[in-house]
Amino acid sequence: MFNALKRMLGSAEVTTKPAVEFPEQEMNELKKMNRLSLALVKDWIDEEAMKTSCFKYGVPDFIKSDLNKDIGSDLTYTDLMVYLSHKHFKKLNYLEIGVSVGKNFFQMLNAHTTGRFTGYDIEEINPRLQQLLEYRGKQEWDTLPKSIKKNRSSMSAYDYKGMEVRYLSADVWDEKSWAKLQGEKFNLVFSDALHTPQAILFEFEMLVKYDLLDDQFIIVWDDLVGKMKNSFFKIIRKYDKVYQIKDIYFLNVNGWIGQHEIPHSVGMISNFNC
Ligand SMILES: C[S@@+](CC[C@H](N)C(=O)[O-])C[C@H]1O[C@@H](n2cnc3c(N)ncnc32)[C@H](O)[C@@H]1O
Repeated sequence: MFNALKRMLGSAEVTTKPAVEFPEQEMNELKKMNRLSLALVKDWIDEEAMKTSCFKYGVPDFIKSDLNKDIGSDLTYTDLMVYLSHKHFKKLNYLEIGVSVGKNFFQMLNAHTTGRFTGYDIEEINPRLQQLLEYRGKQEWDTLPKSIKKNRSSMSAYDYKGMEVRYLSADVWDEKSWAKLQGEKFNLVFSDALHTPQAILFEFEMLVKYDLLDDQFIIVWDDLVGKMKNSFFKIIRKYDKVYQIKDIYFLNVNGWIGQHEIPHSVGMISNFNC
């Protein structure tokens, strides 16, 4: 009630929950599974791909040497998303915006036996991730002229243990590329690409414009620091009525290199009680 009122009045912040509740034992099992998934890839860095990349796959030099290390047993955003997807979605339709080398994306894939998985990144798919998948085909189109992506944009299709996987290599600012997703109904979206307040607002506009959200959905944003947090609240205030947002979380949780960096500021919304 208080939250609804604050949102109606358009106050800058909305009340958020600081933690997702889960059964300890179940989570411990999921953590084990996720760390085993990561261990299937000895080296996530493909130096050749790095050389031709736009953003070195979002891997700054100061964390590069940590990327292959054991992430430790503390909860990560991946553990949480796997838990929530198992709990709520019989048919997971997952979109990850910002896949990088594929650490989170691969753990998500490996934690499921059914579902559809779409990754969206300005980089070409990391060859280390690609070699784990069975290639099925590719469609290409011209990239937005002002994009920092210089080659053609594309959507590649793969199979992973009977599950459909697609990788959209495109700029998040390229509306034509979002249009390629039309017809999809994602129920879990992870936004972890361009960490600017404008970019996450634009992404959300695209999810709305192309009607890409399922009847029940969870959306997770990583790295909500500074003005990014304002965009998170702006999205909630603007779309609360349309989507009837039920749960809003803002939590600190480990990210893709786990114990080797400080916890990430993660925001999450759902339009049902999760
Ligand atoms: C922090 S990394 C993603 C990490 C990944 N989600 C994980 O947890 O394993 C951010 C990614 O966003 C991508 N990115 C940055 N700007 C982008 C843009 N304009 N369009 C699409 N992807 C972008 C980078 O290429 C990088 O791979």
